[in-house]
Amino acid sequence: MSNLAYKNKKLHFSNLDLSKVARDYKTPFYLYSEDVLVENYTTFYQGAKAAGLRKPLVCFALKSNPNRELLRTLAKLDSGADIVSGGELRRALEAGIPAEKIVFSGVGKTEEEITYALGVSKKGIYSFNVESLEELELINRCAKKLGKLARICFRLNPVVEALTHKHISTGNKTHKFGLLEKDILASLRQKRLWSHSELVGLSIHIGSQLLDLRATKKAIAVLSSVALKTKLPLEFLDVGGGLGVDYHPDETRKLPTIEEYMGIVAGTLEKEFYAKTEHRPRVVFEPGRRIIAKAGIFVMKVLRNKVSEKNLFVIVDGGMNDFMRPSLYEAYHGLVPVKESRATKLSHVVGPICETSDCFGSNRLMPPLKSGDLLVLKDAGAYGYSMGSNYNLRGRPLELLIKKDKRIKVINKAQPYEELL
Ligand code: LLP
Repeated sequence: MSNLAYKNKKLHFSNLDLSKVARDYKTPFYLYSEDVLVENYTTFYQGAKAAGLRKPLVCFALKSNPNRELLRTLAKLDSGADIVSGGELRRALEAGIPAEKIVFSGVGKTEEEITYALGVSKKGIYSFNVESLEELELINRCAKKLGKLARICFRLNPVVEALTHKHISTGNKTHKFGLLEKDILASLRQKRLWSHSELVGLSIHIGSQLLDLRATKKAIAVLSSVALKTKLPLEFLDVGGGLGVDYHPDETRKLPTIEEYMGIVAGTLEKEFYAKTEHRPRVVFEPGRRIIAKAGIFVMKVLRNKVSEKNLFVIVDGGMNDFMRPSLYEAYHGLVPVKESRATKLSHVVGPICETSDCFGSNRLMPPLKSGDLLVLKDAGAYGYSMGSNYNLRGRPLELLIKKDKRIKVINKAQPYEELL
């Protein structure tokens, strides 16, 4: 669900007229919809239940969007969190997500972060998703110092090729992520690694923006097989995140529904795991993008036009420091004017940053746009604000939320110059 539509030739998001919103708030800004967020989370969670999965735990990937208010909304829906740093852990706890619903991923956890995570509650966090044996050794040592038992989940590298952008594909040997099956199984025989740690789960995460789920299916089969080989009564199997969204209209027909995705997860587990044992570990998910991408847009204003022979540049007040995806991954995002009119001009929509890659879209068919016109970059809720920077010494943009009652709440102020200087 995205909820972006024209009414009387004016673009509305979550039923609010964007030209009115932009009268009250200075561009550029992110605008989120609580309705869409709640619906996306609920559909995901209910989809897992409907597929017959027992006590699913949905751990929202904070890296996709760590905004406090959005996290509080998710916490109220009983969401857990997938975190990758001490900062994200503090943010998740502060938003009301309990430690027993937090999984800690990432290849570079530091001693300080591990010690903090072990101490946040009696049992620490739900699990450390461990990516190397050296990391396990360190966690075990930290737990010993604190007189605790660390809850460990190995992130398995299932050696599959996820069909997605090479920068966000993570499930093969050439990637820095996860441990190979043989190393996981060998580690279980090394008693000294487990003096203050227990293996409670196994996880995978093979990549992001997945639309083709064949590799996912394969990876869950490998996950099941390794889980059975451990011969341990694991508490959970974590199938990671990665489910994509349709950024481009061509992706819409490829887009798996939540029902299809959950059908694949549950069906593969049924065939590869449940059919072979009585044991029923719960299933953990780590979605980010699918929950939040379509719950947010990025609203910009046209500063001016510039013509270089056949090239028409529409210069906007948002830049790659605010929204990185097009410059970093050549990612496609829809660009739509707030005032509906006939698209007649091939345009390059560019920001003010001194980099050629500071371009939100080239050769897009747009209506003629002039200074002061508003433009929306679609599907900006995931990996938008969270990947932003102060490049070119620009302040971070404002974030707004359309609450259920359609009131607008400022959920993050635009960063003032005083903070930058
Ligand atoms: N779990 C782990 C261990 C991850 O590394 C990630 C994402 C997720 C879950 C959530 O994946 P999602 O459901 O959001 O696909 N900046 C890139 C995406 C990087 C994803 C990194 N890991 C982008 O803008 O496309």
